[in-house]
Amino acid sequence: AFNLRNRNFLKLLDFTPREIGHLLTLSAELKKAKYAGHEQPRLSGKNIALIFEKSSTRTRCAFEVAAFDQGARVSYLGPSGSQIGHKESMKDTARVLGRMYDGIQYRGFGQDIVEELGKYAGVPVWNGLTDEFHPTQILADFLTMQEHNPDKPLQDIRFAYLGDARNNMGNSLMVGAAKMGMDIRLVAPEAYWPEDTLVKQCLEIAQETGARITLTESVEEGVHGCDYLYTDVWVSMGEAPSAWDERVKSLLPYQVNSSTLKATGNPSVKFMHCLPAFHNDETTVGKEVAEKYGLSGLEVTESVFESEHSIVFDQAENRMHTIKAVMVATLGS
Ligand code: CP
Ligand code: NVA
Repeated sequence: AFNLRNRNFLKLLDFTPREIGHLLTLSAELKKAKYAGHEQPRLSGKNIALIFEKSSTRTRCAFEVAAFDQGARVSYLGPSGSQIGHKESMKDTARVLGRMYDGIQYRGFGQDIVEELGKYAGVPVWNGLTDEFHPTQILADFLTMQEHNPDKPLQDIRFAYLGDARNNMGNSLMVGAAKMGMDIRLVAPEAYWPEDTLVKQCLEIAQETGARITLTESVEEGVHGCDYLYTDVWVSMGEAPSAWDERVKSLLPYQVNSSTLKATGNPSVKFMHCLPAFHNDETTVGKEVAEKYGLSGLEVTESVFESEHSIVFDQAENRMHTIKAVMVATLGS
């Protein structure tokens, strides 16, 4: 049976394909109920702590709106203002918050930190992004793919992730694809492929699920026949801004632009991005980078981002429905 009550949601590696499938089904049901105006609150009276050691727009708002829709209350603990990390260890913080809250979201740095929190809190802990993994994002992405290909089960979907495939998104998409039996191509210079140990783990999972995992430096080979092209920022939160020089040099050939879309051979290929994206110079960092390298648009061009191929805002909305499903499944009545 589908029972995730009291489970942590720290990484997709901890879940079976069936459990992930059930979370996607529950997400779709909750989304439908909200649209129809008959959502049942299953988190009434619950108190939820949201710890953010890094910035966020989508993840924070998704957790808050999902909690409010379901009748729960939240406390936001930002990167400054609490004792976490400076004066108090995560092990102690976990035991304190676990005495007051029914569930805890954590966004921060090492995966080991959220694992520690999950070990000692005594209540469900949800990973809202670490350096290594971003599991709630993957649920939103797979729900979005199901919505755009209602007649294609996930196992029949082919997609490519281009750019920094060694970051939380590259890692998590590879794990998610392995679990759900999909065809994923990680398209990047070899130095930006996920770590060997994780690749090996995913290849083992793939043997059971029928997933196909390809690591390639060739854009042509990687994107051919794809239903979706996915990319992410080239320098992630927590990395030194000095990394930009090397990233721009190595990853520019992996930018998603109109030729990349054409190389898929699929006129209805869709573009995906977890956001935020550098697709123009309308942000502070975007402007600096644009001035320095003479580029407007880095991992994706403005024309692709704004094109009819782009489904990035469907993904953003689905963060809320899928995060709601994670909270309801692990904590709901
Ligand atoms: N995609 C995502 O996690 O966005 P935020 O950093 O805004 O939460
Ligand atoms: N790789 C990005 C994802 C942001 C949602 C980062 O960690 O900054």
